[in-house]
Amino acid sequence: MMALANPHELDLSRVDLVTMRRRHVRQVMRIEAQVYPRPWSSALFLQEIVRRADRIYLAARYEGDVVGYGGLITSGLEAHITTIAVDPAYHRTGVGTKLMIGLLDAAIDRGARTLSLEVRRSNYAAQNMYEKFGFRPVGLRPGYYVETGEDAIVMWVDQTDGPEYAELLNRMRHKLASRGRRENAGG
Ligand SMILES: CC(C)(COP(=O)(O)OP(=O)(O)OC[C@H]1O[C@@H](n2cnc3c(N)ncnc32)[C@H](O)[C@@H]1OP(=O)(O)O)[C@@H](O)C(=O)NCCC(=O)NCCS
Repeated sequence: MMALANPHELDLSRVDLVTMRRRHVRQVMRIEAQVYPRPWSSALFLQEIVRRADRIYLAARYEGDVVGYGGLITSGLEAHITTIAVDPAYHRTGVGTKLMIGLLDAAIDRGARTLSLEVRRSNYAAQNMYEKFGFRPVGLRPGYYVETGEDAIVMWVDQTDGPEYAELLNRMRHKLASRGRRENAGG
C-alpha cells in the first residue's frame, strides 16, 4: 500500500469501518507486526473473528487498504477491548478515534454498560486516547506483558448506556467531522 505524503491530508469521511473478515487479516498482520512487540498470530485473528456472538472486530479501510483495526469481547453488561491499532503511516489522523467510536457504538448496541481494557504503563498515546473516551485507571497488573515484563494499567468506563456517555460520544463524532472539514479546506 502507498502511505500518504502527508498523512494529515487523510479524508476521514472516506475511512470506512467494516466487520473484520478473513480477507482483511493479511493486512492486519502487516500492521500488527509493526506496532506490537508480541504480535497476535493470523490464526488467533481468524479464531476471534468467527465468534460473532461474543466478539466484535472492525477494520478501518482507506482507499481499499486496511489502515487500522480493533476488537472487543462482549459478555452481558460488560465488554473488554482486546486490541486496537492503526498503521503507523496514519497515526494521529483520527483513525484510532474513529475505530473507538465504532467499537463503543457496537458494544453499547449489544448491551454493554461497562468497558475495560489493559494498556502498557508506558503507552501514553493510547492512554490519552482512552481518557478522551472516559476511561479511567482502576488497577495495575504487574508484569502483565511477558515479553518485556511491563505492567498493564487496567482502565475502565461505566454507565455507557446513559445520556452523559451518549453526549460524550456525540462530541467525539462532531470533533472528528469538523477535523475532516478543516483538512479538506486545506487547514
Ligand atoms: C493508540 C493508537 C491506536 C491511536 O491511533 P491514532 O489513529 O493515532 O489516534 P488518533 O489520531 O485518533 O488520536 C486520538 C488521541 O490519542 C492521543 N494520541 C495519539 N497519539 C499520540 C501520541 N503520539 N502522543 C500523545 N497522545 C497521542 C491524543 O490524545 C489523540 O487526540 P489528538 O490528536 O486530538 O490530540 C495508535 O497510536 C497505535 O496504533 N498505537 C500502537 C498500538 C497500540 O498501542 N494500541 C493500543 C494498545 S492498548
